[in-house]
Amino acid sequence: MAKQLRRPNGAMGSRVGNMMNKANEFLYDFTLSVMQPSSGQSILEIGFGNGKFFDKFFAKAEGLKVTGLDFSETMFNTAKGNNKENMESGKLSLHFGSSQQMPFPDNSFDKIFCINVIYFWDEPHQHLLEICRVLKPGGRFYATVRTKESMLKMPFTKYGFTFYETDKWKLQLTDAKLQFVEERPADEPIIDFDGDKLLVQSLCVVAEKGN
Ligand SMILES: C[S@@+](CC[C@H](N)C(=O)[O-])C[C@H]1O[C@@H](n2cnc3c(N)ncnc32)[C@H](O)[C@@H]1O
Repeated sequence: MAKQLRRPNGAMGSRVGNMMNKANEFLYDFTLSVMQPSSGQSILEIGFGNGKFFDKFFAKAEGLKVTGLDFSETMFNTAKGNNKENMESGKLSLHFGSSQQMPFPDNSFDKIFCINVIYFWDEPHQHLLEICRVLKPGGRFYATVRTKESMLKMPFTKYGFTFYETDKWKLQLTDAKLQFVEERPADEPIIDFDGDKLLVQSLCVVAEKGN
């Protein structure tokens, strides 16, 4: 399960993608409420999974240009199938690749977000440097995570997950020339993860690139 959550693959990966939709929809609504995208902004999602929630963004503001990046071939192909209209109309573009080395020019995005992704960054520094590079000056990065206490309730997080810790994250942001702005908490409704009913808490951690 831990391996599939890190990088969903094949038929099992597709099932995990559907499971994540049920477990994580609240986190998409929460992250959107913190991000408050405004008309015409350019937004990047890192680790979009099967891409079921892009419409929530388009419903929030006019003229958004949304880009997605995911390093799972299974998720990339599934998300393309789930978003044909958005891609054909030019509002959404999806890319296969890793946040460690992004295929985007400097200063491209007003906002970058990721949900349930940073646990898998073995060396966050390189990812954060890339995020800083592709953010526009004054742009913001939103990382939504479940708290360490909540993650410990899920048995599979013993394998290959790095839990979010505020102090470490602040240092990592500073090392990549990003400024910590705030940490917004949310109590989630009880989630059903693979048959387990869990009461968990999450955080949206916001950082900014200087002007
Ligand atoms: C646990 S899933 C979360 C999916 C979705 N964001 C959600 O919360 O339901 C992690 C996703 O991030 C992708 N991912 C993990 N590390 C990545 C990286 N370094 N670059 C791009 N995508 C990554 C995985 O392939 C997977 O689709």
